Amino acid sequence: MKTFPKNFLWGSATSAPQSEGHSLKDGKSATTWDYWFKTSPEKFHENQGPANTSNMYEMYQEDCKRMKEIGLNSFRTSISWARLLPDGKNVNQEAVTFYRNYFKEIIKNDVKPIINLFHFDMPMWLMEKGGWETRESVDAFAFYAKTAFELFGDLIENWTTFNEPIVHIECGYLNGAHYPAIHDFKKAVQVGYHTLMAHVYAVQAFREVMASGSIGIILNITPAYARSDDKGDQIAKENADLLTMKSFLDPAVKGAIPNDLIQLIKEHDLTPKTVSTDTSLIKENTVDFIGLNYYQPLRVQAPVNPNFPAQTPDDLFAPYDWPEKRINPYRGWEIYPKAIYDVAMMMKNEYNNFPWYVSENGMGVANEERFLDEQGMIQDDYRIDFMKEHLDYLYQGIQEGSNCFGYHTWTFIDCWSWLNGYRNRYGFYRLELENNFKRRLKKSGLWYKETAQNNGY
Ligand code: NOJ
Repeated sequence: MKTFPKNFLWGSATSAPQSEGHSLKDGKSATTWDYWFKTSPEKFHENQGPANTSNMYEMYQEDCKRMKEIGLNSFRTSISWARLLPDGKNVNQEAVTFYRNYFKEIIKNDVKPIINLFHFDMPMWLMEKGGWETRESVDAFAFYAKTAFELFGDLIENWTTFNEPIVHIECGYLNGAHYPAIHDFKKAVQVGYHTLMAHVYAVQAFREVMASGSIGIILNITPAYARSDDKGDQIAKENADLLTMKSFLDPAVKGAIPNDLIQLIKEHDLTPKTVSTDTSLIKENTVDFIGLNYYQPLRVQAPVNPNFPAQTPDDLFAPYDWPEKRINPYRGWEIYPKAIYDVAMMMKNEYNNFPWYVSENGMGVANEERFLDEQGMIQDDYRIDFMKEHLDYLYQGIQEGSNCFGYHTWTFIDCWSWLNGYRNRYGFYRLELENNFKRRLKKSGLWYKETAQNNGY
């Protein structure tokens, strides 16, 4: 039996835009997702937009009971900025009532909430002014964070500022998967810098408003593995880790942007606009814990024809098709559980054994209805195997001293996922959107329940 540390967090994560629904109701203003769906619905898989989520806005009471029923002792979701502050300044009282009731219900069911502030859902009023490209976004986010801590700080102890900040930078400004879908590396770096400063100011607001509790940030980790020991491939690995991982991890934990990253950005003429007090603010506002989302690694090699100045990250590290890659047959992503051990050791050895947890890990499956049995239960043994394999490596990392305090899956109830809509399912509950939002427990939910209750397997 593998027993995990005392008080280990067993839980799941979701986000406001992917689970609430009621996307333009009860005073909520539009986000870039609402706008994009309205103007380009064809981009969204099967035309499923942000209004078609699992409807937790109305069903949270029964869903909180479900959390308890499957043994979750913790749960992460986010607040919708556009619901709480529809114009960025005035508080929407309906949102306050909703979130207070929702959070109380989670707590009533003995589940510890972890509340995040930004999960890719940029309010449209701010996007119209330039979004994260403008320094104004930093102040706007700091105000939102302070408002949230003041309104909900009596209920919520554990907070995070951003979910996967690299994603809205990369997808919005480099690869076209998020609005505004432009391709401009210099802007991407500026957007990244403002996101970092918004995070820093939110941490500062937290320390001012909250007498206790803890604050962190959720980062997606795609550890880079080089194709060979050749110098070019090794530099590509370093560059990939700097850009995709250390860019937020180092400031959050060590209070500084890595010098090598500053150099790299400078050498490629990508340096963003800064304010002179920023460096000391970054230093003063480190976090209390880190959440790491892990799905798949990055296999990299030296770029073949690097551009100067770099036009995309591929000019600094190029992906390559690793022949031994083990692929999730139902989704297409690489499955490499050992990376979770490597990450655990990295946190121990390179980040002074900083407290962290796996804030997302999970297996997406397309057309999952093919695994329905006659009783209407999805027999998702592949997901159980996936979790076990990752937990085995996490356990090994913890045995070797890594300070990991939890494992959250993505996700609790199948959820809407950006341009992909419902293409890939990840939940412990199957969602039947067309059947009045019916939730059906999958086999993996039963396995997780037993694991959480035994604190191991
Ligand atoms: C990471 C993100 O936080 C979430 O929004 C997304 O749906 C899942 N991964 C699955 O890709």
